[in-house]
Amino acid sequence: MTPAIEITTDRSRIDVDLVHGLLSTSYWASGRAREVVEQSIQNSLCFSAFRDARQVAFGRAITDRAVFAYIADVFVIPECRGQGIAKALIRSMLEHPDLRNLPVMLLRTRDAANLYSQFGFQPLRRPEEVMGLYR
Ligand SMILES: CC(C)(COP(=O)(O)OP(=O)(O)OC[C@H]1O[C@@H](n2cnc3c(N)ncnc32)[C@H](O)[C@@H]1OP(=O)(O)O)[C@@H](O)C(=O)NCCC(=O)NCCS
Repeated sequence: MTPAIEITTDRSRIDVDLVHGLLSTSYWASGRAREVVEQSIQNSLCFSAFRDARQVAFGRAITDRAVFAYIADVFVIPECRGQGIAKALIRSMLEHPDLRNLPVMLLRTRDAANLYSQFGFQPLRRPEEVMGLYR
């Protein structure tokens, strides 16, 4: 059952300290500076879930809103996990008017593939055609 939460794309409501703090504990963004988190928020379509007045989840889409989006930095605060909040957040991302018609969306995940596969995400069709620049 989806708990009573509100999901918004209003960047002004984001609890940046919370987002930065949770990302600091993640396996993919542990050293990310607060200013970098702020800049990433500023330049993304961000989704925040609130229960009462408290932010309980976050995720963002890096997108041109025309042909492509990359989903990043998805988390639910530890004490609210296992209640369907991530699924509600992903659903609202995929249904957003600027994202729902995009032909391709990508994301990376180490251990949450089963979360995203429920929404149609699958392993890359031709991973040998995808490249990365790491620095
Ligand atoms: C992964 C995370 C966002 C899931 O949030 P959540 O609110 O607990 O997830 P939900 O309750 O909406 O349900 C998750 C669903 O995905 C599945 N799942 C797959 N991998 C999972 C994982 N690593 N963690 C939690 N659920 C996972 C669950 O089994 C569940 O499916 P079900 O309802 O069919 O049983 C949360 O555990 C989290 O913030 N983890 C730390 C950050 C992280 O790893 N983010 C994802 C980066 S890609």
